Amino acid sequence: MLETAVKAAEKAGERIRAHAAAAKKVRFKSSSHDLVTEVDQAAEEIIRDTILKIHPSHAILGEEGVEAGVEASRAALEEHRSFEDLWIVDPIDGTTNFVHGFPMFCVSIAYARRQEVVAGVIYDPLRDERFTAEKGKGAFLNGEPIRVSGEERLEESLVATGFPAGAGGARQRNVEGILKLSPRCRNVRAGGSAALHLAYVAAGRLTGFWELELNAWDLAAGSLLVREAGGEVTDTAGTPYDIGVRHILATNGNIHPAMLKELKEARATGFEAQ
Ligand code: IPD
Ligand code: CA
Ligand code: CA
Repeated sequence: MLETAVKAAEKAGERIRAHAAAAKKVRFKSSSHDLVTEVDQAAEEIIRDTILKIHPSHAILGEEGVEAGVEASRAALEEHRSFEDLWIVDPIDGTTNFVHGFPMFCVSIAYARRQEVVAGVIYDPLRDERFTAEKGKGAFLNGEPIRVSGEERLEESLVATGFPAGAGGARQRNVEGILKLSPRCRNVRAGGSAALHLAYVAAGRLTGFWELELNAWDLAAGSLLVREAGGEVTDTAGTPYDIGVRHILATNGNIHPAMLKELKEARATGFEAQ
């Protein structure tokens, strides 16, 4: 499965890289924060074709095959949950960056067997960095093993977050989380690609990452990478990750309890009554 995922990600990555410098035709999805280009759609087609050629009976949940908005995303996941063999695909994670020429975006592909993610790849086409993981077999960057970082305390931690595309209060809550965490951590980053942030936690480049209102395709491959690299992945209330999680916290494990506590105190978990 990993071989198929890598093949699909690299093919899509080639297309994305070829168009990275060109002007893009942009469409708004749910809002002006939520963009899609022809390259997102073409990359998803490439990934679908590659997977289905090898595994014609498997199901694919791809972002560009789903209507925009939180409700449609939730419904699509529920419709796909029961498939034994499910691929969860984000053809470009970081489309806003892709559109603006900010060089931080990637392809994310996960394979879930009976709702459990067991293989995943995150591919950064600009840096040619391929982050891969299989359940029980560890995490790798371009074939070399990777581990989460060793920081013990928030004071020495570099953490990241993001600003979700959907409307609603999630962006405001994330800002509250930043206000609480920023004075306590070494620093906070918001690079604009949830999947790459997760890959960076796995590779020890970030100590932790949290964000609210993400979708299965933003998180599935990255969550496996972090776990296989020795880290911890839960929702922002501390419940272990499953493919339905939308409010994510992924860390090196050491700072997990402190991050949970700070987010709770800031009322920034996304689970607060509105
Ligand atoms: C987005 C990115 C971004 C996050 C948004 C996501 P997309 O995915 O992961 O970092 O803040 O919430 O929607 O739309 O570029 O695939
Ligand atoms: Ca995404
Ligand atoms: Ca996307």
